[in-house]
Amino acid sequence: MRRKLIAGNWKMNGSLAANAVLLTGIRSGMGEARCEVAVCVPAPYLAQCRDALAGSPVRWGGQDVSVHESGAYTGEVSASMLLDFGSRYVIVGHSERRSYHREDDDMVAAKALRAVAAGLVPIVCVGETLQEREQGQTESTVTRQLDAVLAALSVEQVTRIVVAYEPVWAIGTGKTATPEMAQEVHGLLRSRLNQKSPAAAEVVPILYGGSMKPDNAAELLAMPDIDGGLIGGAALKALDFLSIIRAC
Ligand code: PGA
Repeated sequence: MRRKLIAGNWKMNGSLAANAVLLTGIRSGMGEARCEVAVCVPAPYLAQCRDALAGSPVRWGGQDVSVHESGAYTGEVSASMLLDFGSRYVIVGHSERRSYHREDDDMVAAKALRAVAAGLVPIVCVGETLQEREQGQTESTVTRQLDAVLAALSVEQVTRIVVAYEPVWAIGTGKTATPEMAQEVHGLLRSRLNQKSPAAAEVVPILYGGSMKPDNAAELLAMPDIDGGLIGGAALKALDFLSIIRAC
């Protein structure tokens, strides 16, 4: 059976004091979660996560990774640095990186490859803008974005990624895709995975992201190809995050 994953994407939020409260809340409220749980945090807070989450089932990771191994790349964070702090996951190709930092499909694919090769699990984000949806380009957009990553990875490497479908128009807006809308795209992504490798289609979790909240998580997570969530705003409050974990 495919594993389920609820991953928090803190984006550029947090402080040592606020994180301590949030991490303690998540850790103490977790109980017997039936899914994997992770938080993807700003790089300066990885050490805090390692210390606060040691011995708990909650994993942690970064929100971006350099395509380069090391060297003169001011401001970049390498895969090995994320691993130094015990990271398991790293988000790649989030729409905010694609739009504000002009990351294209090739760069996202190179980042996914760098992460997998280093032993991290990349959470590869794909998703259409509102304009693309309205012009009937949802399928072509997410297919193009996923295919770039699948082309860069070996069949074996593809089994070690996580995919996240995040319709750009649903991120941070309070507008969520209906479970049926999301399932349609998840099914399409599953079939692209299957074309590359039936084994990958079996094991790779496909998360939904975009205004997933305690009150809509259960119906989204009930869909056959929705294997978890990538949670932004609701991951910043322990009670909300825990209630999404319980819905999984
Ligand atoms: P949101 O963000 O849950 O706040 O919509 C999700 C994301 O951008 O990963």
